[in-house]
Amino acid sequence: MAFDANRDDLTVGVIGTGAMGRGIVQVAAAGGMRVLMTDTRPGAAAEARDFVDKMLARAAEKGSITRDEAAAATGRIQVVGGPADMKPCHVVIEAIVENLQAKQELFGELEAIVAPDCILATNTSSLSVVTIASKLKTPGRFAGLHFFNPVPLMKLVEVVEGLRTEAWVVEALMTVGRRMTREPVHLKDAPGFLVNQVGRGFTLEASHLAYEGIAGFIDVDRVMRDVGGFRMGPFELMELTGLDVTHPASELIYNQFFHEPRYRPNLIMRSRYEAGVLGRKTKRGFYDYDAEMKPVIAPEQPAPAAHPGSVWVSPAEPQGCAALTELLKKLGARIESGAKPDARALILVTPIGQDATTCAVEQGLDPKRTVAVDTLFPMAKRRTIMGTPLTDEGYRQGAHGLLASDGVPVTVCRDSPGFIAQRIVAMIVNIGCSIAQSRTAQPADIDKAVTLGLNYPHGPFKFGDVLGPGRVYQVLSSMHRIYGDPRYRPDIWLTRRARLGVSLLTPEP
Ligand code: NAI
Repeated sequence: MAFDANRDDLTVGVIGTGAMGRGIVQVAAAGGMRVLMTDTRPGAAAEARDFVDKMLARAAEKGSITRDEAAAATGRIQVVGGPADMKPCHVVIEAIVENLQAKQELFGELEAIVAPDCILATNTSSLSVVTIASKLKTPGRFAGLHFFNPVPLMKLVEVVEGLRTEAWVVEALMTVGRRMTREPVHLKDAPGFLVNQVGRGFTLEASHLAYEGIAGFIDVDRVMRDVGGFRMGPFELMELTGLDVTHPASELIYNQFFHEPRYRPNLIMRSRYEAGVLGRKTKRGFYDYDAEMKPVIAPEQPAPAAHPGSVWVSPAEPQGCAALTELLKKLGARIESGAKPDARALILVTPIGQDATTCAVEQGLDPKRTVAVDTLFPMAKRRTIMGTPLTDEGYRQGAHGLLASDGVPVTVCRDSPGFIAQRIVAMIVNIGCSIAQSRTAQPADIDKAVTLGLNYPHGPFKFGDVLGPGRVYQVLSSMHRIYGDPRYRPDIWLTRRARLGVSLLTPEP
């Protein structure tokens, strides 16, 4: 098909001019395309056009575009009566209500109106592109074009290829996306596409941790910000999005993946969803809010003044042992050098994917004196420690006091294979790997989508490479062994690259 996505007079139709549609109109017009827009609610499209005009004028005031460019973009936007007026369009993007039947009916209607080589695209966030296309007479020209909210600020657009989408359509939509000054990423249709799929690793694993009572919501958020380097913790994020959005999306992805355990939601989310405790929008969620809608966050407990007499660090994980010993030296701890701990020493272990109990039992250490320290992540901003169920309170406090003695906060969690950050990040990496293994998208594109769409410090592959593929594999396989839950089985993409000792980005023909 000789479709010229670069033609000067490229005309884009946008149907549904709510939060998303109006953003798409703005970036299309700013990108030099003529835009026809419509909405079924009377007056909605005109309101949206006025909104876009204001946004363009504001961009000109800020100097991100010139006044002439803003005026020209505004001049390219036209409100039309309905789908029947989309005849001149080269591409029509649908951003109507998230309802399969409504979308299928709309595209059925459009097929009879537009030219045979007009591309039809959906901005659906949770429906299958393949399913929407299943009712079309010409599914070859249909694809997903998934933008993120707010569109003008979020550079990413996912170009979703359905089973019957033709190659020229993908190519054309990649060009259209670039012309809209977006960063398009190509993938094959999959539940949650790229970003919403990888995002499950962050929010669902955090909920599993909380459900198991390993740490409170605020503590998980603190660890993921300070240790994992995320801008926002998983519960903070769900507070903003609202569980009315996050929970149904999670259930849908889980069901669409035939109950794949990696995507399994849990009761923490569902019971809150059903109780209407949704987050900021209901003034109560994982956090409570004050009258000014500021989250009420109790200050962290001051570190205990306790200090252990002497400390013995297990050499079982040589890298962790070295990192922790170096830190303990800086803190002025009395470090034992024997092959076994003295009878009263605090015993520190540095597990990768194991809990403190497994370390104590398998290494033949006294569980009453054993405390585990997470050394996989940098320990400069916060440290995470946990004891076994038998750890004596005096030893736990001694470890806490010592590790906080330079003023760095310490989070004490309940015994957990993989502490907090190890397991959440390992799940993100594992899901990324499963997407690459299934040939849904290329690793570099998955990383790009995740950093642009979710603002994570790294995409799953880079994150895995920074921590070390072998160590991420170790986190998951230990969790798998300890829990016996297939949710934690390492994906074969990760397993192979960990065994071969190569980057997770290593492609495979
Ligand atoms: P919205 O509720 O803000 O806007 C939807 C608009 O479509 C409304 O103005 C409504 O009057 C109009 N509409 C409904 N049925 C219509 C029809 N048959 N023909 C023409 N107009 C119709 O919804 P929003 O948030 O803009 O979402 C639109 C689509 O974008 C949905 O498929 C949603 O899943 C998807 N999406 C939403 C994101 C978000 O963060 N809000 C992110 C990415 C995708």
